[in-house]
Amino acid sequence: MFLVLFLMSFGTFHVHSVLSKPEQVTAYEGDTVTLHSRGNTTWTLSRIQWAIFQNDTLIATYQTGDLETDLIWSYKGRLTLNTTTGDLQIKNVTRKDNKSYSVLLMDNNNDQYNHDIQLNVRGETGPRS
Ligand SMILES: *[C@@H]1O[C@H](CO)[C@@H](O)[C@H](O)[C@H]1NC(C)=O
Ligand SMILES: *[C@@H]1O[C@H](CO)[C@@H](O)[C@H](O)[C@H]1NC(C)=O
Ligand SMILES: *[C@@H]1O[C@H](CO)[C@@H](O)[C@H](O)[C@H]1NC(C)=O
Ligand SMILES: *[C@@H]1O[C@H](CO)[C@@H](O)[C@H](O)[C@H]1NC(C)=O
Ligand SMILES: *[C@@H]1O[C@H](CO)[C@@H](O)[C@H](O)[C@H]1NC(C)=O
Repeated sequence: MFLVLFLMSFGTFHVHSVLSKPEQVTAYEGDTVTLHSRGNTTWTLSRIQWAIFQNDTLIATYQTGDLETDLIWSYKGRLTLNTTTGDLQIKNVTRKDNKSYSVLLMDNNNDQYNHDIQLNVRGETGPRS
């Protein structure tokens, strides 16, 4: 009985994270776009991890005072990470950036926050409405 209750509460945790829909962001090819972490602005961030949601590949990190924004070849030279807010800026957006991204924030009390974003990239010749 105790085991069943444990599994149920564990399952609920996962259902919650699956049900929360990613924020939708639209950009056009060649644009500079900022993906906001939406973290608590009072936090002093000790760790920031931006990943490609689909395969968990880290693209930009800040941990133990060390900032890395050139982890993946396809984003090399295009990323700027704000270590105060956790916001990630992507320059010269390409169609290949059309993906879901996930950010994990940790503050200096080890509180954690997670936010998911779907970046929708449209062609530069398309109508801007
Ligand atoms: C932000 O963090 C502070 C300090 O931990 C907390 O008091 C406050 O309620 C948080 N605000 C939100 C919107 O979560
Ligand atoms: C994850 O996806 C990115 C972009 O599509 C790709 O560059 C990278 O190699 C992938 N990583 C793995 C481990 O599949
Ligand atoms: C980070 O963002 C904050 C709030 O928007 C801004 O005041 C600050 O100048 C930014 N820092 C950098 C290095 O861009
Ligand atoms: C933007 O990316 C395209 C290819 O994706 C490249 O041809 C172009 O030179 C880049 N522009 C800048 C300003 O980096
Ligand atoms: C961008 O990604 C979304 C969600 O995965 C998909 O529905 C859409 O067709 C993609 N757009 C392009 C131009 O690949």
